[in-house]
Amino acid sequence: MKRIPVWIDCDTGVDDAVALLLAHALPELDIRGISVVCGNTSLENAYFNTQRINGLMGANYPVYQGAEKPLLKEVKFAVTFHGINGLGDVDLPVPENAASTDEKAWDALYACACTHPGELRLVATGPMTNLAIAFTKYPALPGLLHSVSLMGGSASVGNISPAAEFNFYTDPQAAAIVMRSGADIVMCGLDVTLQAFLTPEDLDELEASGTRVGSFTKACLLPALKGSRMYNLTGVCMHDSCPVMYLAHPELFEGEKAGVVVETRGTFTSGKSVTDLYSDKQFPFKNALVLLKVDRDRFASILKERILSIEKPEAV
Ligand code: RIB
Ligand code: CA
Repeated sequence: MKRIPVWIDCDTGVDDAVALLLAHALPELDIRGISVVCGNTSLENAYFNTQRINGLMGANYPVYQGAEKPLLKEVKFAVTFHGINGLGDVDLPVPENAASTDEKAWDALYACACTHPGELRLVATGPMTNLAIAFTKYPALPGLLHSVSLMGGSASVGNISPAAEFNFYTDPQAAAIVMRSGADIVMCGLDVTLQAFLTPEDLDELEASGTRVGSFTKACLLPALKGSRMYNLTGVCMHDSCPVMYLAHPELFEGEKAGVVVETRGTFTSGKSVTDLYSDKQFPFKNALVLLKVDRDRFASILKERILSIEKPEAV
């Protein structure tokens, strides 16, 4: 099987962590690099959390640091869902063999895209700041990528405000740059990611596996599960696993091509993704495949099976 080269830009946070575990465990995908951005937590936390996940899954993917703040706005970390340390306040060691580099995220991403012309899938699961800097510094980059599979925006509801989703809200200017970049975009907005949840029973199943990965996954998601209950959600949404799962299992999803722009001003609407999906008035472009449905049961089943494949249960 020809594996799919993938670069993941994330703000490791708890659902980013699960998305990294999934990307590592999907045999279809070949992680070529990971970059981190501030969002759920600080850039420093996101970096060391990503190294912690590297260690947990027995990998040593190169991790590059990007932007320590959004292009214009001040960032407000999502402590309720991700804890103070960004991993649900669960302790996990940073591996001693963690490779460190001064190469910036946007430069490393461009270099990787140049070695995989037309093939590299860029997954973005945090604010789009690093992507916006990369696309601005390297105008050829959107055309060099196979596609951008991103978690962000929404054709309907908001979560950090009534109008906007957290990743787009945190850096609306960056989201606007990415959405008009000309890249081939798959938008995994709240419309689909709110359907992609793990139930408390799913988390118990992961913990009952007797694996460190299974136990960590439940433990780090507990604050987010508690937060989800405040929104009367059935489980904890695996927002960031959607753009990863789509690359290996697009058959789980349904969506429509649509025009999508991002509001960068607006007292109440900053960061809102404005789409013509349900509008009589259409934009003269269709710049994104907007995912709208997912087969949750199959999504959860594959996600759990892949997470539990990472290590064998500890010998009793
Ligand atoms: O709105 C959900 C997004 O915000 C996810 O990427 C989550 O990790 C947070 O960053
Ligand atoms: Ca994220």
